[in-house]
Amino acid sequence: MLKQQHKDRIARGDYMIDKKSPSAINRRTFIGVTSAIGAMAASGAGPAIAQSSSSRPVVISSGNGFVHRNGGTETCVERAYRMITEGTDVLESLIAGVNIVELDPEDASVGYGGLPDAWGRVTLDSCCMHGPLKRAGGVAALQGVRTPSNVAKAVADLTDHHLLVAQGAQDFARQMGFSIEEDLNTERSRQRYLEWRRRIDPSHYPDPNRQAQLTPDAYRQFARESIQVAEDMAAEGLIDPEHLYGTINCNGVNNNGDVCGVTTTSGLAWKIPGRVGDSPILGAGLYVSNDHGAAGSTGRGEANLYNLASFLVVEELRRGADPKDAGMIALQRIWENTETRLLNENREPTFNVNFYVLGKDGRHAGVAFYGASSGNQRNYAVCDENGGRHEPIEGLIR
Ligand code: GLY
Repeated sequence: MLKQQHKDRIARGDYMIDKKSPSAINRRTFIGVTSAIGAMAASGAGPAIAQSSSSRPVVISSGNGFVHRNGGTETCVERAYRMITEGTDVLESLIAGVNIVELDPEDASVGYGGLPDAWGRVTLDSCCMHGPLKRAGGVAALQGVRTPSNVAKAVADLTDHHLLVAQGAQDFARQMGFSIEEDLNTERSRQRYLEWRRRIDPSHYPDPNRQAQLTPDAYRQFARESIQVAEDMAAEGLIDPEHLYGTINCNGVNNNGDVCGVTTTSGLAWKIPGRVGDSPILGAGLYVSNDHGAAGSTGRGEANLYNLASFLVVEELRRGADPKDAGMIALQRIWENTETRLLNENREPTFNVNFYVLGKDGRHAGVAFYGASSGNQRNYAVCDENGGRHEPIEGLIR
């Protein structure tokens, strides 16, 4: 039972974050809040489930969602859009879409054939959120399952939890009937790994049996150097620079206004074993509000983890920002919170973070520190009534 004092304060708008400037709250938000208050007042119960309103079906994703077909005819965004418009649940449709990329050995950043960790093991992270059902699930450091997004959905649908990791996640997947494979490397990912090992000074990454002898300083030096080697290999065209941190994020809305999202990745190439980035973390790699929209990210997961920036993007949507501005506000926050060692001589970030932002009304944006005009063909994928395509990512800096 909601206490009367709180009911009165909700009615006065006291709990609105932007109380001082209510004009910043858009009409849809206002209707959502007032109808929720009405339902609460009528029932005397807790928060009401907001009603969906009609929208324009749209699916957006990171650029790799309009590249890979895994031998079929559709890309991720095309499959998800088709299924949504045929009436399939939005999250099921998005996961069917990202499955194409997870299963395609040509994408070295996601699922099967993803670039492995420093011990050569492919470990996968994913999370998903179902806006209307208010359900979420994630897995981190999962080995042996090609489609971690499906396991994340099973966590959401079949457990009382939101995140399972490592061996526990794999045990859960096995119990749920997923087939567990010994090794998700492809010949291509294995060869890239061997090249990386060849370039590393072995004294900075000794036999795993000697790990206990490493000092914290040696670990820090190893981490810096391994990323430098990876960046050199990207500069030489041996790996896709956009795939150093991997990942596909895919968000969608149907004509009922149901908003969902999913993010899935093999994480940072050749990461320190056990490293988990932003992708499986709710609020970081993905956040969904069925009342306002969805946001997810690719790029340097550490930067996003520090700021839980997908949550911030959706919070800005809630406060009335359009998708592009909401994403830019989050990028600005990340920049402000960046350590000096990760800024260049112009005090700009030496890394990239991308956000894919979808409003409940179907408006969308792709934003990054360094976007399409930075000369790297940075784009995001869209599918709507006009079909699948790439659109340019807007850069905050370039
Ligand atoms: N954004 C993906 C990762 O950092 O793992």
